[in-house]
Amino acid sequence: MTMVVKTHNETETKALAAKIAEKMSPGMTILLEGELGAGKTTFTKGFAKGLGISRVIKSPTYTLIREYTQGRLPLYHMDLYRLEDTGAEEMGLEEYFDSEGVCVVEWGSMVEDELPQEHLLITIESSLADLEERTIQLTAKGTHYEQLLEGVKDERRD
Ligand SMILES: Nc1ncnc2c1ncn2[C@@H]1O[C@H](COP(=O)(O)OP(=O)(O)OP(=O)(O)O)[C@@H](O)[C@H]1O
Ligand SMILES: [Mg+2]
Repeated sequence: MTMVVKTHNETETKALAAKIAEKMSPGMTILLEGELGAGKTTFTKGFAKGLGISRVIKSPTYTLIREYTQGRLPLYHMDLYRLEDTGAEEMGLEEYFDSEGVCVVEWGSMVEDELPQEHLLITIESSLADLEERTIQLTAKGTHYEQLLEGVKDERRD
């Protein structure tokens, strides 16, 4: 199942992310795809807010994983762009994916084999014509994620 949303500024992207966060269950994973500067970390900021996390979300580019335990569910924010330097095995990523928290992964393509089969895939694409416009495609893989996306769809119809 797929859903496509167009956002016209950062605030709209964050609002969409917060809506999704409110519907998250323990153990779920979101894979964020898109070029440098597409808005993956911006999305994560809105998502964190939706989980009730008020701490500032910093891009984990150098640390690879940042943990936020203050919200409704623990948030594990990963940015695996620089993983090549570290190697995937020592990271113990599966421990995060198997946890009761929620994982949001930027540049997951670096460790394709280690990612959960079931997930919500979110692709963010910039627009050539408008600096602030993004096309956000959400694809659910697995029953739980389809139910989640159905819920988000319903809410947007209201
Ligand atoms: N509609 C929009 N949605 C999201 N971000 C937007 C939008 N319009 C403009 N922006 C801007 O685009 C930038 C996105 O940067 P961000 O760090 O979120 O990208 P990223 O995908 O995480 O990049 P990286 O791959 O380097 O981690 C921010 O400066 C944000 O303000
Ligand atoms: Mg980022």
